[in-house]
Amino acid sequence: MKIITSINEMKEWSRKCALNIKSVGLVPTMGYLHEGHLSLVRIARSENDLTVASIFVNPTQFGEKEDLNVYPRDPEGDRVKLESCGVDALFLPDAESMYGAGYETFVEVQQLSLPLCGQSRPGHFRGVATVVLKLFNIIEPARAYFGSKDYQQLQVIKKMVRDLNVRTEVIGCPTIREADGLAMSSRNSYLSRSERKQAVCLYEALWKAQQLFITNETDPNEYVGAMKDAISREPGLSPEYVRLVDPDTLKDVSVVQAPVLAILAVRIGQTRLIDNVLMS
Ligand code: PAJ
Repeated sequence: MKIITSINEMKEWSRKCALNIKSVGLVPTMGYLHEGHLSLVRIARSENDLTVASIFVNPTQFGEKEDLNVYPRDPEGDRVKLESCGVDALFLPDAESMYGAGYETFVEVQQLSLPLCGQSRPGHFRGVATVVLKLFNIIEPARAYFGSKDYQQLQVIKKMVRDLNVRTEVIGCPTIREADGLAMSSRNSYLSRSERKQAVCLYEALWKAQQLFITNETDPNEYVGAMKDAISREPGLSPEYVRLVDPDTLKDVSVVQAPVLAILAVRIGQTRLIDNVLMS
């Protein structure tokens, strides 16, 4: 696995792939890798000649009071995992080269960035869209792989690619879960032992929504009520949002009809977790 830290060297590597008519699949990450990330790598490998993973804890997508400075890191563990998954190149740019002095250009997907996570994290999706477009321009991948766990992020990136005529195809991949249903996340490492036990209620809430869907319940309030119940059963948890939305527009639905997305964000102590399930 080639480790590349310079933007110019990454561009050079990608140019050579293009000259040799090799397709490149990209998996952008912020590191502290788990099976969710590695599942994207495996899908990328199966669909492309060469696979690039990037690790960059992107400062522009963190709010001022957020966890940029304590975001978990394990560079050596990440390298070993990616190498054993057969990644061809690992791109590790630094913040200085990505956003040097005088940096002033940002990408904003206006409407899709507003609801849900956009409400409590203003500027977050602007940072995500900007760094992803930069990675696409540096690496010029044929395809890029994103998890459905971060559903709004995936939709924002798909929309950016469509609106700006970017050549990379964006591919959404399934959410990988722990044995008890909790969606894997680098931020799960923040949870204490008791918080980790409580966190399973996010999945239980989504499971309840799926049960209502199977019974053809059409009232979104029934779903939201059942999901909030599941969360409020655990003391000290505060739901930030619990919604039933249109999977394309992310707007609340007034009648539940397939396809519909149940989506939530919950605070457990200092940790903010998100999850969703698409019902169709
Ligand atoms: P990060 O949180 O490291 O996630 C990198 C990719 O892994 C994202 O596409 C995310 O959706 C996916 N992922 C995370 N947990 C997953 C799970 N349990 N199952 C499947 N996929 C999962 O998301 C980011 O980084 C950043 O915002 C980034 C896109 C890299 C831009 O900075």
